[in-house]
Amino acid sequence: CRVRHYKFNVVMRNTSRLCSTKSIVTVNGRFPGPTLTAREGDTVLVKVVNHVKYNVSIHWHGIRQLRTGWADGPAYITQCPIQPSQSYVYNFTITGQRGTLLWHAHILWLRATVHGALVILPKRGVPYPFPKPHSEVVVILAEWWKSDTEAVINEALKSAGFTLSVQRGKTYLLRLINAALNEELFFKIAGHKLTVVEVDATYVKPFKIDTIVIAPGQTTNVIVSADQNSGKYALSASPFMDAPITVDNVTATATLHYSGTLSSSPTTFATPPPKNATAIANNFIDSLKSLNSKKYPAQVPIKVDHSLLFAVGLGVNPCPSCKAGNGSRVVASVNNVTFVMPTTALLQAHIFKIKGVFTTDFPGNPPNPFNYTGAAPTNLSTKNGTKVYRLAYNDTVQVVLQDTGIIAPENHPVHLHGFNFFAVGKGLGNYNAKNDPKKFNLVDPVERNTIGVPSGGWIAIRFRGDNPGVWFLHCHLEVHTTWGLKMAFLVDNGKGPKESVLPPPKDLPKC
Ligand code: C2O
Repeated sequence: CRVRHYKFNVVMRNTSRLCSTKSIVTVNGRFPGPTLTAREGDTVLVKVVNHVKYNVSIHWHGIRQLRTGWADGPAYITQCPIQPSQSYVYNFTITGQRGTLLWHAHILWLRATVHGALVILPKRGVPYPFPKPHSEVVVILAEWWKSDTEAVINEALKSAGFTLSVQRGKTYLLRLINAALNEELFFKIAGHKLTVVEVDATYVKPFKIDTIVIAPGQTTNVIVSADQNSGKYALSASPFMDAPITVDNVTATATLHYSGTLSSSPTTFATPPPKNATAIANNFIDSLKSLNSKKYPAQVPIKVDHSLLFAVGLGVNPCPSCKAGNGSRVVASVNNVTFVMPTTALLQAHIFKIKGVFTTDFPGNPPNPFNYTGAAPTNLSTKNGTKVYRLAYNDTVQVVLQDTGIIAPENHPVHLHGFNFFAVGKGLGNYNAKNDPKKFNLVDPVERNTIGVPSGGWIAIRFRGDNPGVWFLHCHLEVHTTWGLKMAFLVDNGKGPKESVLPPPKDLPKC
């Protein structure tokens, strides 16, 4: 194991994409930002220096951050932001993880342009649990915002410009990352099957499929065999489900280019699935299973200490000063709590026992039971609050995330910081606490850090609270996070010597 040093200078840079040029916030002048590469077991030190006029913080999405919540990154949750002309060193060790993840800014909407790949290789000498590919490529799917309201996906299919030159008979590992703010995407390659081997830096049982679906914050590793004769084949990313923003449809800006093919030869295109192709998405999602081998066992919690039901969705909030919405405004909530960002970081408040920053009365169940998929409830009102749900060290948790479908049913990709969880069950309509658990997969459910709550349905996840600290849970569609679809788990320190949060670094930013 070694220590890897990185320096991230946050600077403005004029950047051109898809015929428009803007000054954007970048890391080291690059969009997307630099790829951070490390091995399992390495310690990573990233010095972030803020040269812009905005507050900044960086999140290492999916890194467990065992006992190092100080390095997790969400502003006002685990740290105060890095103010202009200040710096902060993120210091963390990568334990028990290998695969593809992403890093991104975690304050306001800055992650639109401040993001990059995080590639964790296995420990030296440890092979992949699949045949070694001939080569590996990072593919970041993102949006390019022409104006503040119009996003264009696909500046995206980026990494190499982007033509991926392949040789017939060889295999290629694509590390796909969805770094978009609000866009769930289908991804496919004309004329080629994708063998899925990993999601969110956990190995899965390999399977072949035509089209994968990837939500903001998620990563997927696929192997492509160059098994066609020759030619050029388009890679395509296209939106899944409606989004509250205007998006251009597919622009295949990337191709697989077989060596020996003339550059004048035509490209074979793939027909993108229709936006609402839920069956295609489910076909992929339901095929995902943990590898669950001897070496990589799925450690699914069997006994559950906290059985929680979180109603997630949109709602309305009284807003006497709002002209537009007749004295109310659209918000998002978890169990009718619209999360209010504190002005001191929750982790600091917790460890230094600062009073009055948060309360520990986050409801474990929806306050007013209703039929989520039937007629809309009459009381849409949510309450503002900075509430956390408290766990003792090592408690096991089951959370059923139920889409309320209020205002509009939508698929919410929910991300949990500090843990991977197992997706043990999923269904449409209302979750039935008596019958549905009988069908749960407690053997080899997929393990991830971000998962879609199906539109008009529910998903059940389980995790073990073996990481003390304060951990954010939120929708990874930036628009919903902003509206309040977020909460936090507080995990108390345990009694053992390795069961408490490490002391805060000296340069931890102040609010
Ligand atoms: Cu990738 Cu809290 O986010």
